[in-house]
Amino acid sequence: MTPTRDPGAASAAAPSASYYERHIFFCLNQRDGGEDSCANHKAKEAYERCKSQVKAAGLSAPGQVRVNQAGCLNRCAAGPVAVVYPEAVWYSYVDAHDIDEIVESHLKNGQVVERLRTPAHLGR
Ligand code: FES
Repeated sequence: MTPTRDPGAASAAAPSASYYERHIFFCLNQRDGGEDSCANHKAKEAYERCKSQVKAAGLSAPGQVRVNQAGCLNRCAAGPVAVVYPEAVWYSYVDAHDIDEIVESHLKNGQVVERLRTPAHLGR
């Protein structure tokens, strides 16, 4: 499909300058050879949970929230991890309760869940 070029119409239709208000990425990386990675800690289930909760909350539209999977985010020692933009807030979660809290507090209401923030010193 070829996009049309009508600057006036395009800007009127755009939901926001960044398209989504917030974007959360889940590392779903699975390493071979037994090395630990986020996929070993139910990252896929957390990603699916987040997607369903965002949809159930009516937040899954342009101008609102997008939930995406990602490869290794290079913070494996803190995994499983997810990161929310534009705030660039990193989370280390454990279970579905943590995901629900991130959705309700941060993705819906813009309040960072401090107890789940990834410690700044943890990388790969
Ligand atoms: S395996 Fe998830 S951050 Fe590297």
